[in-house]
Amino acid sequence: MRILITGAKGQLGQELQRVLMGEDVIPANRPEYELTDPMLGENIAAQRPDLVIHAAGYTDVDGCERDPETAFTVNAQGTRRVAEGAAKANARLIYISTDFVFDGKKTEPYTERDPVNPLNVYGRSKLAGEEEAVKGCRRTLVLRTSWLYGVHGKNFVRTILSLAASQPEIRVVEDQRGSPTYARHLAHVIAGLIRSDVTGVIHAGGEGECSWYEFAKDIVQEAGLSGRVVPISTAESGRLAWRPPYSALSTAILRQHGLSLPPWREGVRQFLVDQA
Ligand SMILES: NC(=O)c1ccc[n+]([C@@H]2O[C@H](COP(=O)([O-])OP(=O)(O)OC[C@H]3O[C@@H](n4cnc5c(N)ncnc54)[C@H](OP(=O)(O)O)[C@@H]3O)[C@@H](O)[C@H]2O)c1
Repeated sequence: MRILITGAKGQLGQELQRVLMGEDVIPANRPEYELTDPMLGENIAAQRPDLVIHAAGYTDVDGCERDPETAFTVNAQGTRRVAEGAAKANARLIYISTDFVFDGKKTEPYTERDPVNPLNVYGRSKLAGEEEAVKGCRRTLVLRTSWLYGVHGKNFVRTILSLAASQPEIRVVEDQRGSPTYARHLAHVIAGLIRSDVTGVIHAGGEGECSWYEFAKDIVQEAGLSGRVVPISTAESGRLAWRPPYSALSTAILRQHGLSLPPWREGVRQFLVDQA
């Protein structure tokens, strides 16, 4: 199968390339595959992919809040170009989306049928991307994931490991809960989905849920570090963009397809083994 992966240098993109090694993979990176380039759709179609996995995006949540125009240009209009390219090639499209399409008012995992109501610019731009993906390509699967981290790139786990190694105390938000997702585990799930022709929306995150504080404590403990983790509130964290207080994803539909990710703590353990 010929698979074009946008954002192939991102944390998920790199894991996808690793997991899909036996396939005919086209890594579609900048500058050749710039999401703001009006020729992007043509360039994608010219590669004649069977499947496009759209993992590129403007993922800096506070950056999106500061620069909504870029957020929408990249995450919404960029996705429209990707979808048009996929449709032109008669390819299937898997668009990677986010738990931040929800407002976090629920107290149990979000299902694919729950109403969306993003709280920040990043969430709104990714939701607009979902709409563009579905509108632009008939064979689209929107795959929502959450709290993604991997051995490549900048992410929460790598930040906590570096802070815990250099500071006696780390302050971490305890009033936001979600499902941490190890990018390599997610890449395996995507590999499992590529041969089915499923469309619509599916949620895929690490099993279970925790707060950022519990997540950080687990990382420090599993890594055998001594830094003390101190719980703080969202208000104390002083972040620019609002974040949903609760955004764990229900994976019941994913399991109906015979696929699942391991519990989130196993993701942390596997990450520590893989990055060593
Ligand atoms: N990170 C999370 O916690 C999280 C949670 C839920 C969903 N997601 C979604 O999952 C997907 C993968 O996330 P990730 O964490 O792997 O992302 P990432 O590591 O931040 O990588 C993003 C990728 O997108 C590329 N990109 C950014 N702007 C671009 C542009 N204008 N044109 C072309 N490429 C561009 C980047 O290219 P360069 O390498 O050149 O910068 C990079 O390869 C994203 O769609 C994200 O919205 C992420």
